[in-house]
Amino acid sequence: MASIINGFQLIARLGRGGQATTYLALPAHHERGGQRSRHLLVQLGFRTGRISLRRAQRWGLGALKLASSATATSLYAEHTILAAPQMRHPHLVCLYRQRFPEALGQRNLGLRGAGAQQRVALALAYEPGQSLAQLLVRRQVPRDPAWAIKLAQQLADALSHLHRHGILHHDLHPANVLVQHASTNQPYVRLIDLGAAERLAAPRRYAVYGTPGYLAPERMGADPAPPSPLVDVYGLGKLLAALTAHTYPLPALRTLIEQATATDPAQRGRSIPHMACFQARLHELCTHSTTFPGMLECRL
Ligand SMILES: Nc1ncnc2c1ncn2[C@@H]1O[C@H](COP(=O)(O)OP(=O)(O)OP(=O)(O)O)[C@@H](O)[C@H]1O
Ligand SMILES: [Mg+2]
Repeated sequence: MASIINGFQLIARLGRGGQATTYLALPAHHERGGQRSRHLLVQLGFRTGRISLRRAQRWGLGALKLASSATATSLYAEHTILAAPQMRHPHLVCLYRQRFPEALGQRNLGLRGAGAQQRVALALAYEPGQSLAQLLVRRQVPRDPAWAIKLAQQLADALSHLHRHGILHHDLHPANVLVQHASTNQPYVRLIDLGAAERLAAPRRYAVYGTPGYLAPERMGADPAPPSPLVDVYGLGKLLAALTAHTYPLPALRTLIEQATATDPAQRGRSIPHMACFQARLHELCTHSTTFPGMLECRL
């Protein structure tokens, strides 16, 4: 693959969703002198899973999300949300330019180069690691509730941040969570894909995006309820359920998951009214070791 789009050379396909296809991308300006060898090095690193965050930063790697102009609206929405400086958060994906402010000439959104008429491109900073979806399929999720709780805590932190700024993620599912250091007891998470995000003050009027199995029931059907933070509470509950499906059944964790995934949003809201409360409950699970003695050290 040799196409240059918006000053990026596409290296490999990272994923394809309903709205867009995302590619690992190397900025073309990095490539002068040794262009081909750097390309091959990145490709090799990607294939063998050996791109660390330090390397990704040294090479200035991006994740270029391409959509056809017919489905570009969610890309524009994602760009608008991430472009706000207050959106920066250690567990949330960021725009390419925010990680590499010196990369003048690279545009975050828009398209120049091949197929400019048909497509729109969003340039994000590349986050190394595997998606939770990949880890689940390959059965590489540690069978330890403490690992899952750590992961959920970081996600709850990113979601609380979004909610404080009036944004719902609205599409929590394993492919939208990237994990670094997955095989250690210090997993590090980045929440990606704000393509389905909703603004609490101005929800989308005509379409509801989300993923079956993770989207809250009140948002489905012909007459969906208005979006509320409880939608992300449900999504995070479902994610936690998927991560702990094969672990030791801890009563306190079970209860938390049941409350977060209650079908009736009113009932859900009575137990976990907002994301900060979910965060506090997860924290409690970690600190009160008496809840599940001996289970707090990840056994890998
Ligand atoms: N910044 C990034 N760094 C590394 N990988 C990424 C990044 N952004 C996306 N990906 C990879 O590409 C895949 C698809 O990206 P994303 O979820 O943003 O696209 P999408 O088309 O909105 O997907 P869907 O509609 O299915 O949710 C992700 O699951 C992830 O593996
Ligand atoms: Mg996605």
